[in-house]
Amino acid sequence: MPKWRTLACIAFARFLTAQAYDLSDGLVTQVSARLAQGAQKSWELGTRAEAILELNASSYSVVSHNALPPPNIIPDSLTNALEPFFEIAKNTVAGRAASNNYTQGPQPLIQDGSAADPASIGFAVLLANWTGYDATSGNQTLDYAGAAKDQLDFLLEKIPRTSDGAISHRVSEVQLWSDFISMVPPFLAYYGVLTKNRTLLLEAHNQISLYRKYLRDDKAQGLWRHVLLGNDFSDEGHWATGNGWAAAGMLRVLATIQNSEFANTFKNEQGDLISWVHEIHTAMYAQLDRNVLLFTNYPDQPVTASGNFYDAASTALLASTVYRLSLLTSSPFITDTSISKPIHTHLPLAEKSRKALAAPAPNGTHQYFTSDGWLTPVVNPDSFTQKGSDSPEGQAFVVMMQASWNDWQADGSKGGNGALGMMDRSKFAGGWGVWIGVCVGVISSVGL
Ligand SMILES: *[C@@H]1O[C@H](CO)[C@@H](O)[C@H](O)[C@H]1NC(C)=O
Ligand SMILES: *[C@@H]1O[C@H](CO)[C@@H](O)[C@H](O)[C@H]1NC(C)=O
Ligand SMILES: *[C@@H]1O[C@H](CO)[C@@H](O)[C@H](O)[C@H]1NC(C)=O
Ligand SMILES: *[C@@H]1O[C@H](CO)[C@@H](O)[C@H](O)[C@H]1NC(C)=O
Ligand SMILES: *[C@@H]1O[C@H](CO)[C@@H](O)[C@H](O)[C@H]1NC(C)=O
Ligand SMILES: *[C@@H]1O[C@H](CO)[C@@H](O)[C@H](O)[C@H]1NC(C)=O
Repeated sequence: MPKWRTLACIAFARFLTAQAYDLSDGLVTQVSARLAQGAQKSWELGTRAEAILELNASSYSVVSHNALPPPNIIPDSLTNALEPFFEIAKNTVAGRAASNNYTQGPQPLIQDGSAADPASIGFAVLLANWTGYDATSGNQTLDYAGAAKDQLDFLLEKIPRTSDGAISHRVSEVQLWSDFISMVPPFLAYYGVLTKNRTLLLEAHNQISLYRKYLRDDKAQGLWRHVLLGNDFSDEGHWATGNGWAAAGMLRVLATIQNSEFANTFKNEQGDLISWVHEIHTAMYAQLDRNVLLFTNYPDQPVTASGNFYDAASTALLASTVYRLSLLTSSPFITDTSISKPIHTHLPLAEKSRKALAAPAPNGTHQYFTSDGWLTPVVNPDSFTQKGSDSPEGQAFVVMMQASWNDWQADGSKGGNGALGMMDRSKFAGGWGVWIGVCVGVISSVGL
């Protein structure tokens, strides 16, 4: 029996099975549709806006190695992809105007008990202003720049703070949430770059630094707590999604600084952000369930503990941040290697998680997606100790995971050899063994 046929058969079979472990374009489209349908709350809209940019208009996303400020004129090729993004900004600003009788002055983009969540839409409003997006709504002319400024002033002037200056996540009292890091500092940094205001970039770093001081838990190897201080909500656990929000927000600030004219004046700050993201990755991936390859909702608790279960949403978010850290630390924009060398440490586990999430179920559906494209199982985004269904943020995290993986691949999958080398040996070998058996069997029975 000719060896080459056997080898070709094995290679082809392995190729086919390897392909099955990536999310198909069709599934990502379905996931995007559920995201569009589900995102209603302030932070869901802001997170969806970021997901749209990362997947479909990456030249406008700060995380994709693009020089800032972005081009004022939208290229024709991106008009359609950006339409739903700008609709978020427009509907938000129009809704704000209608709900406040068109008054100006410090106020959030959406009235919300959270001080931070509405600010997550701020970068989209800034970009609508920057590119001169359609500002007519009924008989009104919308003021995107004014709305962004009102949101900024609201945060800086009206929200209670800790004695050392950390801006509260809540309007009514001082309470610090890890979620804040994805909601506020990226807005401050983007505002700073577009208006050439270095102080705001510094403030983005300062808020992260303060939040880390409070929420990072030495006794849990550096995992971040979810909520501290105050009584509005209570959750001192090391919520997986919260650790993801923290890492993702820091990476957006890092990218914003890195791609701005201020990059050379913020070397220490970039170094901080890189090491703080890496620190979260190290703490989190030490807790990844090595069999299921998903995080649990509270990753340092047994899956059987009360309030705990496997959570595909945080698993997707964390994986996305691992690709981003690898990309940003091997960016050609970092010419000064004293800031960082490329960090690919957690790529092998992020890749395993991504493949686990993409795995087909035996009957051809997906194990971790419903038939209409909702990620499952996921934490209830409104009640963080409960399992939920139909999580809009979870949908956005899948889009971000896919987008960052696309970018990482396009950039040459740096650190990917390590990923291969550290693949689960038993499964890898078992896979080959099965295929050799099948191919030898088929080829000898057909008598090729
Ligand atoms: C990305 O573009 C595809 C193709 O146009 C579209 O189906 C999908 O909804 C978009 N995804 C997001 C998150 O905007
Ligand atoms: C808007 O104006 C109307 C009519 O003057 C008033 O009844 C309403 O309370 C105002 N709403 C707000 C939010 O100020
Ligand atoms: C709004 O856009 C204009 C024109 O691009 C720019 O000059 C201005 O700084 C922007 N304002 C804000 C708050 O970003
Ligand atoms: C603008 O439209 C709103 C809502 O339709 C209406 O109440 C208001 O009187 C209009 N204002 C002007 C100046 O026409
Ligand atoms: C930067 O922004 C802050 C906050 O809005 C403001 O107080 C300060 O005057 C701005 N600095 C410059 C140089 O525009
Ligand atoms: C496919 O299998 C999964 C369990 O692996 C099950 O939940 C789902 O209902 C099945 N779908 C169909 C269409 O049979």
